[in-house]
Amino acid sequence: MGKILAIVSQKGGVGKTTTAVNLAAAFARRGLKTLVVDVDPQGSVRFGVGLRKGHPTAGFADYLAGARSLREVILPTALPWLRVMLAGSVSDTVDHSAYFDRIAHSDLLAQMLGAARERCDIVVVDTPPGLGPVTRRTLLASDRVLVPLQCEPLALQTTPQILRGIQDVVATHESLVLDGLLLTMYEAGNAACERTAQYVRQHLPAGMVLDLVIPRSVALADAFAAGQPAVLRSPADDASQAYVNLATKLAERFSR
Ligand SMILES: Nc1ncnc2c1ncn2[C@@H]1O[C@H](COP(=O)(O)OP(=O)(O)OP(=O)(O)O)[C@@H](O)[C@H]1O
Ligand SMILES: [Mg+2]
Repeated sequence: MGKILAIVSQKGGVGKTTTAVNLAAAFARRGLKTLVVDVDPQGSVRFGVGLRKGHPTAGFADYLAGARSLREVILPTALPWLRVMLAGSVSDTVDHSAYFDRIAHSDLLAQMLGAARERCDIVVVDTPPGLGPVTRRTLLASDRVLVPLQCEPLALQTTPQILRGIQDVVATHESLVLDGLLLTMYEAGNAACERTAQYVRQHLPAGMVLDLVIPRSVALADAFAAGQPAVLRSPADDASQAYVNLATKLAERFSR
């Protein structure tokens, strides 16, 4: 049975989707059967995952609404071992309340993730920012959680909230493992960034902040614009290599 890895953060725009698609592609490159699931109604995964041309756009929201079967919303990508479940039609609308209600009042998210875990080695779940019902339910169904933290002073304000939220979930779901806080958009030589990294490492329990950091890199944003994970498009880039190294580290942990 595979592992479900949730990518969560309190703050928006910290690199969750970038981390989800690049880690998923890096796992798939290692030959691990990987599914990346987008439960964020913003639906950004579809722009970065490397979909084949002319792909359907149905996804999780359409399964949730009973309009599509699970099989119909698991789509191939350019990588043989990487499949994707997009957010689906919810991302074409501005009112996401029906989507949130369906998740909050059914067990379908957990059922979908459970079914995905049966068929895959790793299921990477990209979530919306904050600890709303979608993220909470994702965590309750997950084995592992990774928290990207943009390396800037504002990150310090929101870190206690997300850690408290994860602790709350662990109170009822003890098997959830925090893989760590991942510093993203790291800029060596930027004093504010370096101070932030030093502060979180000093003030959080040893090992909670991963040693490995994701450097700030235009290759990541460019890859999104080109619709492909950077680990495939610019494999020599430092940020791509950091994601490949992170995938290696996590895959080793998951197989223990
Ligand atoms: N290491 C990085 N270097 C440079 N740009 C980055 C890096 N990581 C992410 N970005 C850029 O930052 C922006 C936000 O990233 P992303 O969409 O992955 O964040 P997010 O946490 O998923 O956002 P949201 O909370 O809205 O879902 C994007 O434009 C992305 O290309
Ligand atoms: Mg996102």
